[in-house]
Amino acid sequence: GSGLNGKFKSHGRVFWGTCADSNTLNIGQIATIIKSDFGGLTPENSMKWDATENTQGVFTFSGSDALVNWAVSNGKMIRGHNFIWHTQIPSWVTSINNKATLQSVMQKHISTLGGRYAGKIYGRTPNRMLIGTDSEILNEDGSLRSSVWSNVFGESFVALAFGYARQADPHAKLYINDYNLDSNNAKTQGMVALVKRVNSGGNIIDGIGTQMHLGAGGAGGASAALTALASTGLDVAITELDIAGASSNDYTTVVKACLAQPKCVTLTTWGVSDANSWRSSTNPLLWDNNYKPKAAYTAVLNAM
Ligand code: XIL
Repeated sequence: GSGLNGKFKSHGRVFWGTCADSNTLNIGQIATIIKSDFGGLTPENSMKWDATENTQGVFTFSGSDALVNWAVSNGKMIRGHNFIWHTQIPSWVTSINNKATLQSVMQKHISTLGGRYAGKIYGRTPNRMLIGTDSEILNEDGSLRSSVWSNVFGESFVALAFGYARQADPHAKLYINDYNLDSNNAKTQGMVALVKRVNSGGNIIDGIGTQMHLGAGGAGGASAALTALASTGLDVAITELDIAGASSNDYTTVVKACLAQPKCVTLTTWGVSDANSWRSSTNPLLWDNNYKPKAAYTAVLNAM
C-alpha cells in the first residue's frame, strides 16, 4: 500500500489514524488527505462528555454521528475517545459526591454512548472499534490523579468504567490512555503497575495508549516507553502523536520505535495540517498550513 496507512499496514499493523470532527472533515483538502493517507479516525472532541451529555440525561450525538458516519462511508476504523476523563466534563458531573449517584451516572453515560456505536460500527466495517475508556488518570509520579472519579471511588472506578464499556460493546478493544508516557519514566511505570493491578481481576483492559504530545528532540525515550508498556502483554497504541517544531528525525524516531515493537498496533497523529492543530503555533504535524506535505511526511514514508 501507499500513503501513511498503507505503508504502516504493510508491517502488519492495524491502522495509521488521525483525529477529526466535522470542522476538519468539512475542509476539502483535509478530506482528500484522510482518504489517501489515513486508515482510522478518532473524534477530536465530539465524543467527550461535554459534547455528548452536557445536560444530565440529555444526549447529543450530532457531532459524533457525523464523525462515525464519515468514517463508515469511507471505510475508516474508529477509535472512540473517551468515556471517562477529568476535563471537558460538565460541572453537573464533577459536583456529584455520592457514590451510588455517580455510579449510575457513569453507567448511563457509557452504556448510552458505547451502545449507540457498538452495533453500527461492527459488521459494517471489516474490523473492530477501539475505545478509550479511561483517559489521563495518573499524576507524573505514577499515582492516581485527583478527579471526581478517583475522589468518589478510589481506583475502583477504572474496573467499573471498563466493565460498563465491555457490556456496551463486547467486541471493542478497550484502552486506557495517558500523556507523558514518552520514556520509561515514573508515570509509565505507574501505568504498567496500574494495568497489572486492574487486570489481576480478569480481562478488563485490552490496551494502553500513549498520547505522545512531544517537543522537538523529545522522541528519544519513545522506544523505551513502548517496551515498558508492551511488557504488560497488552496491545499498545500511539494515540495522539504531534511534535512541536518537529524535525524529520523526531518523527522517524517515533515511527521506527513503533515498528520495532510488535505490540504497537496503531499510530494516530493528532490532526492532519498545522493549520487546524490544537498546537497550531508550534507546527507539530505532517502537513503544513497550506495542506502541503512537509519534509517530515516524506521522511516518515521512507522510514516505513
Ligand atoms: C484536545 C483537542 O485537540 C482540542 O480541540 C480541544 O480544545 C482540547 O482537547 N489529550 C487528549 C485530547 O486526550 O482529547 C486533547 O484534544 C489533547 C490532549
